[in-house]
Amino acid sequence: MKISVIGTGYVGTVSAACFAELGHEVICVDIEPLKIDMLNRGVPPIYEDGLSELLEKHVGKNLSATSDYDFAINNSEVSFICVGTPSNQDGKIDLAIVKAASASIGKSLRKKKGYHVIVVKSTVVPETTEKGVLPIIENQSGKKLGEFGIAMNPEFLREGKAVHDFMHPDKIVVGSLDKRSGDIVASLYSGINCEVTRTNPRTAEMIKYVNNAFLATKISFSNEVGNICKELGIDTYEVMKAVGKDFRIGPHFLNSGAGFGGSCFPKDVKALIGKAHDVGYEPTLLRSVMAVNEIQPLRMITLLKNKLPDLKGKKIAVLGLAFKNDTDDIRESRSIPVIKELIEEGAQVCAYDKMAIESMKRIFPDIEYCNSAIDVLRGSDACLIMTEWGEFKSLDKEFNVMKNRLVIDGRHMQSPRKDVDYVGLCW
Ligand code: UGA
Repeated sequence: MKISVIGTGYVGTVSAACFAELGHEVICVDIEPLKIDMLNRGVPPIYEDGLSELLEKHVGKNLSATSDYDFAINNSEVSFICVGTPSNQDGKIDLAIVKAASASIGKSLRKKKGYHVIVVKSTVVPETTEKGVLPIIENQSGKKLGEFGIAMNPEFLREGKAVHDFMHPDKIVVGSLDKRSGDIVASLYSGINCEVTRTNPRTAEMIKYVNNAFLATKISFSNEVGNICKELGIDTYEVMKAVGKDFRIGPHFLNSGAGFGGSCFPKDVKALIGKAHDVGYEPTLLRSVMAVNEIQPLRMITLLKNKLPDLKGKKIAVLGLAFKNDTDDIRESRSIPVIKELIEEGAQVCAYDKMAIESMKRIFPDIEYCNSAIDVLRGSDACLIMTEWGEFKSLDKEFNVMKNRLVIDGRHMQSPRKDVDYVGLCW
């Protein structure tokens, strides 16, 4: 089929490349000329494993990019809205970009003959597709639902593994108001071996939020258990490994540590809290999930100060800045509140991350950055491990260059050691 994908962030670009791989003809649309130019040269605007190979294979054949909405809508049968949905000041979802994209699609649809399906893939709170996107498209196009179709098709892609997750999903959810548009969207995935769950749009929107909120809950739950275990001298990893053997619980996402970050979990849990509040429900559990996640990174500082009560002038090495390994993304990274606190305590902060230094320089331009773990450890009074980068598992002799061999590990990278004062955050 012919598909247009609006927005070339990680969801849009990955979806476009993967739909092209499935044999569809895909046009990417973005208002940023730089991104259009990069895509048309086969250069990914973001880093995702396997993405550049797909672009190389399909750009110039069945994948292209433009900033011309009229061209894209006219030359496609289905349009996916994949634009960003940031949080506003009070944590609620900001739908301005989704609405602007909907208006642009609607305007182009006015000039188009024939049926067209608009699919919301951006993560939006329940009712947005029906009460936000649909009326804008009707208004701008001068057409009524039925003359065009509308659907909601959430994504469950992990950053860094998005191409793999798109091609090997555990679920595909298609929410539509009518059978015709739902059938068209479901058919786009016929090359993938996965059952399609069909719902209405608001249920599809809710499934996405509940998915992320549940995973975030598992992490905060594990962190709370880890904090209790720490006080009792119990290894929480041993506990959760056994607990995860219960098929009703499962072994994944039970790793306690410095908390969850990223562009999705914090934002989506807050947006669900905001929506619940709007409809008159007080989401006590979800608020606690966020509260544990705020406290968790600061426990790193508490453990550090138990050993080094006065941080003034002390050189503290921060290992890991990204919100998780294998990405340069620092959004909501748990290293941010930790560095802030270290600066407030008067520490001299020195940081290393394999990919995220440039991103972090925008938030903390004045701290010191090093290009390797050994450089950051050299002469330091203590080290905090904030991100689960694989290379931190094998750090060994590198600790010898520290002035004081004290390590607070927020990601369970190593077991306690004899040669280093090695303190686990939750174990
Ligand atoms: C998350 C979801 O996993 C995806 O399914 C979803 O599509 C995506 O959000 C989204 O809404 O777009 P992502 O943000 O890439 O994906 O990150 P995850 O790999 O899920 O990790 C999130 C955070 O949880 C990281 O900071 C990680 O360090 C932390 N984490 C993860 C833990 O602290 N413990 C765990 O056991 C697992």
